[in-house]
Amino acid sequence: MSTCTERMTELTQDYSLPPQKVPVFNPRTLLPSEITVLKQEISELLCQRDAVLVAHYYVDSDVQDLALETHGCVADSLEMARFGSNHPASTLVVAGVRFMGETAKILSPDKTVIMPTLQAECSLDLGCPPQEFSTFCQDHSDRTVVVYANTSAEVKAMSDWVVTSSVGLKIVEYLAHQNKKILWAPDKHLGHYIQQQTGADMLLWSGACVVHEEFKFEALRKMKNLYPSAGLLVHPESPAAVIELADMVGSTSQILRAASELPHEMFIVATDRGLLHQMRKAEPEKRFIEAPTAGQGATCRSCAHCPWMAMNELEKVRDSLLMLDNEVFVEPDIARRAMIPLQRMLDFPN
Ligand code: 13P
Ligand code: SF4
Repeated sequence: MSTCTERMTELTQDYSLPPQKVPVFNPRTLLPSEITVLKQEISELLCQRDAVLVAHYYVDSDVQDLALETHGCVADSLEMARFGSNHPASTLVVAGVRFMGETAKILSPDKTVIMPTLQAECSLDLGCPPQEFSTFCQDHSDRTVVVYANTSAEVKAMSDWVVTSSVGLKIVEYLAHQNKKILWAPDKHLGHYIQQQTGADMLLWSGACVVHEEFKFEALRKMKNLYPSAGLLVHPESPAAVIELADMVGSTSQILRAASELPHEMFIVATDRGLLHQMRKAEPEKRFIEAPTAGQGATCRSCAHCPWMAMNELEKVRDSLLMLDNEVFVEPDIARRAMIPLQRMLDFPN
């Protein structure tokens, strides 16, 4: 049998987003009284519009709280997709990034899907242009195309399977058992991690997440030495050297669960700091600290917070419900084709 390294090839062209293309976004800090008024306004608008708020763990903590208070959800990208399509509301307000809004629309074509802002992108999605991806697929037509959910609807429409970080490992394992050779896109770190775990034959696109790529081995090793009893929880979009230090590697919801299940009293968390809000609520007795970013040279760009997720401010949630603008549309033919691999993921036993 060939070794893991022989079974994994990475695209030579680098599709990581250059730093100058990553927005620096500083949300306005609201007074407690402003937060109360905005939350009240949004709650009323949700009722008037027959709408439900579906939020990701990385958005502002007030938006997360409001989603739960109004019987919406705060979840990882897989659960957001499930929740939106199963909920009876006629309008979904998706607080997250564009691919999450598109996925909601594909799964619920008859619902109105709006987002607090349509500017919320994802570096993985931006780093996988459909035209170039199409050529890549044609050049390797013997491979099963597996794409991460963090992609455009157009890229999903070219794939055989869509996966999120909660189910990617199991689905690739299942495909590897059938001796399928895999074309993986866009996150090279997640692809590398899955390849190492499964031994599957994988050809990797070379995109990266601008948030998780900032976690660096040396700074983390020093922090671990400083807090030797702390557990280290790592999202698999992080570089391999960081993953190797981890006590547990998993998606946002798996990290949240591990914080409750593992015996440690303290955790270092290598993912977007938005997740720490739910971790602290679930385990108020435990201590959670953010993993350091960018080694010695941390800048305001490397703050362990996705600048696009940060754009989902309370005021924008209110405005999108007031105007019913920022509606998400997916071209019907693309939606029809993207639905097939998405449905495969949703039907996969989890
Ligand atoms: P999850 O699928 O774990 O929610 O992650 C989505 C994401 O964008 C992570 O950066
Ligand atoms: Fe994309 Fe990274 Fe932001 Fe997640 S944290 S939405 S992968 S840029």
